[in-house]
Amino acid sequence: MITKIAGSKKDIFYLMNKHSKAIAKVEAEMLLEYLFNCTKLDLYIRDFAVDETIEELYDSLVSRRLNKEPVQYMTGCAEFMGLDFIVTRDVLIPRPETEILVNEIINSSQFGCFQQPHSNAIKYSSSEATKFPNREVKILDLCTGSGNIAVSLARLMPQAEIVATDISEGALKIAKKNAIRNQAGDRVKFYKGNLFNALVFAKNPKFDIIVCNPPYIKEGDFPFLQKEVREEPEIALNGGKDGLDFYRIIAKDSHRFLEKGGKILLEIGFGQRKAVEDIFLSYSIFDVYKVIKDFSGTERAVWINLL
Ligand SMILES: C[S@@+](CC[C@H](N)C(=O)[O-])C[C@H]1O[C@@H](n2cnc3c(N)ncnc32)[C@H](O)[C@@H]1O
Repeated sequence: MITKIAGSKKDIFYLMNKHSKAIAKVEAEMLLEYLFNCTKLDLYIRDFAVDETIEELYDSLVSRRLNKEPVQYMTGCAEFMGLDFIVTRDVLIPRPETEILVNEIINSSQFGCFQQPHSNAIKYSSSEATKFPNREVKILDLCTGSGNIAVSLARLMPQAEIVATDISEGALKIAKKNAIRNQAGDRVKFYKGNLFNALVFAKNPKFDIIVCNPPYIKEGDFPFLQKEVREEPEIALNGGKDGLDFYRIIAKDSHRFLEKGGKILLEIGFGQRKAVEDIFLSYSIFDVYKVIKDFSGTERAVWINLL
């Protein structure tokens, strides 16, 4: 237990500055929150004693980080949509870009895509606004990993029914823990299996939205990935020879799991937009109606309609 020592010479700010040239401030804060088992705010308002043992522990955490160990695997948690998620080496560390998917779904359901709009709500003239189910929106999160997308949607859309699947037993265990941790334990139904095969035991597996952040890295790119990324599970990253394997399967099979007028929202990798569009358009039952860029201007997500 860390206790206050009046007049202690070294404090949190000493530690924060100690490696400031080597690691980013945000990472120093995450490591210190972990070390002192406190919140970020606590770091700034509470008076923690920093003795030799604490300093050594902090130095060893920083040296692991400099050895390219992802800070979230060291602390065992990651923030996503303002919620706190457990992460282990069984799951991909949730990325800020992926929050785009959650925001898109929330916005589409609020502004007319899936609810009858108020008379003064924005009206879409595109196919985006053609169907309004008069019931709870049903969402499938394929490849759920830590459950970050499914759990965030459950918290932010109390009216939605959410199903999440993954092939990895280890990932599903973490996802279930995350649902409970975020008071959504009874809101998300989890199934294990290879993509849509996971739904064999699901009751009425038809959805208004299928959302998926699939593995999309090309096999050949693995040796060139940052060392931190190579620490993450290969099963969460490997999208096959050209990175597009999962999009092909989703394009082939998703129509069987979509309600009439249902939609698919996919995260995509750098430069994959055209190839992903071509895969879906080749089936003549889909239309790609929106592409969303991330904070760095990279095309990061596509909305696809079942016609
Ligand atoms: C890129 S991660 C996405 C995790 C999480 N949804 C996110 O956005 O951070 C891809 C996930 O797909 C899962 N996965 C890989 N192959 C799969 C398959 N054939 N069927 C279902 N899930 C699979 C991995 O276990 C991993 O959790």
